[in-house]
Amino acid sequence: MSAVPTAAQIRQSFLDFFKEKQHTIVPSDNVGYTSRDGARIFTNAGMNQFVPIFLGERSADVDTWPGVLHKGLPTRAADTQKCIRAGGKHNDLEDVGLDTYHHTLFEMLGNWSFGDYFKKEAISWAWELVIERWKFPPTRVFATIYQPGKGDPAERDQEAWDIWAEKFRSIGLDPDIHIVNGNKKDNFWMMGDTGPCGPCTEIHIDLTPGAPNLDEDRQRAGALLVNGSDASCIEIWNNVFIQYNANPDGSFVPLPAQHVDTGMGFERVCSIIQGTKNFTDFETAKISNYDTDVFKPIFDELTKLSGKTYASTLPKANEQGHVVPVTEQ
Ligand code: ALA
Repeated sequence: MSAVPTAAQIRQSFLDFFKEKQHTIVPSDNVGYTSRDGARIFTNAGMNQFVPIFLGERSADVDTWPGVLHKGLPTRAADTQKCIRAGGKHNDLEDVGLDTYHHTLFEMLGNWSFGDYFKKEAISWAWELVIERWKFPPTRVFATIYQPGKGDPAERDQEAWDIWAEKFRSIGLDPDIHIVNGNKKDNFWMMGDTGPCGPCTEIHIDLTPGAPNLDEDRQRAGALLVNGSDASCIEIWNNVFIQYNANPDGSFVPLPAQHVDTGMGFERVCSIIQGTKNFTDFETAKISNYDTDVFKPIFDELTKLSGKTYASTLPKANEQGHVVPVTEQ
């Protein structure tokens, strides 16, 4: 991709990549979802529709699902899933409208292994897509791995560290700078308080102004921004290694098989690729999910209908912590 790609091209590029890796491409599930206790909730991640397979209640048979867009292996799936995170364990509502990278409804690109490939392939493919195909500047890329605290489930994910280390070293980067430990909150992914879960490894991108590639001092500074809840360094992709079922009594029971569950923020990837003009300009780049062609046609239409122009501003909180509408600032 040398010209700046459209959002549609970026989405297709993700799906095509996993097609090449023998994944079955399935359609997005409904955003309305019936949880296992019968409650009607929203789909909060691409993996929701695959829960019965993860739990071993249904065999991996995605290639036979209705509406399959490309038939690959029954044990590998990829899609783009419409998600709403409005309540429960994953609630983005406090952030929506106040930053440039959370939404009421968003698309999660994902790939899954149902007892098929595991950490080595998942991380290698994440590297191949992000660094080799899309060409994110590697000095701005950071991977996090799970480091449990006292009493937390599972072990430190040394295996993920080792796989990432080999990747960073292969292009002359220091893994001690580019791999960051994360705690249970950030690096042990659970769909809800119960259900399939496991340690995860996330990819974060340093978006601070400067040259596309950063020197080692800047790389060290970038590592400190990871998981800082700041738009200058954002997570784009989470790879979860589903190995446990969390029970209501708080126990974590190993599942019959090991699975991969990933989720990439589609609008975020578009904002970085388009905002930096395909990684050529981080200096003057305006990196916002709203400044992409995912939203632009909608804003153009709103401008036409309302006569008001979209100005890419964010509201600020006043001293009492209340949001002040832009027009009153
Ligand atoms: N299910 C994982 C997430 O939503 C990939 O982050």
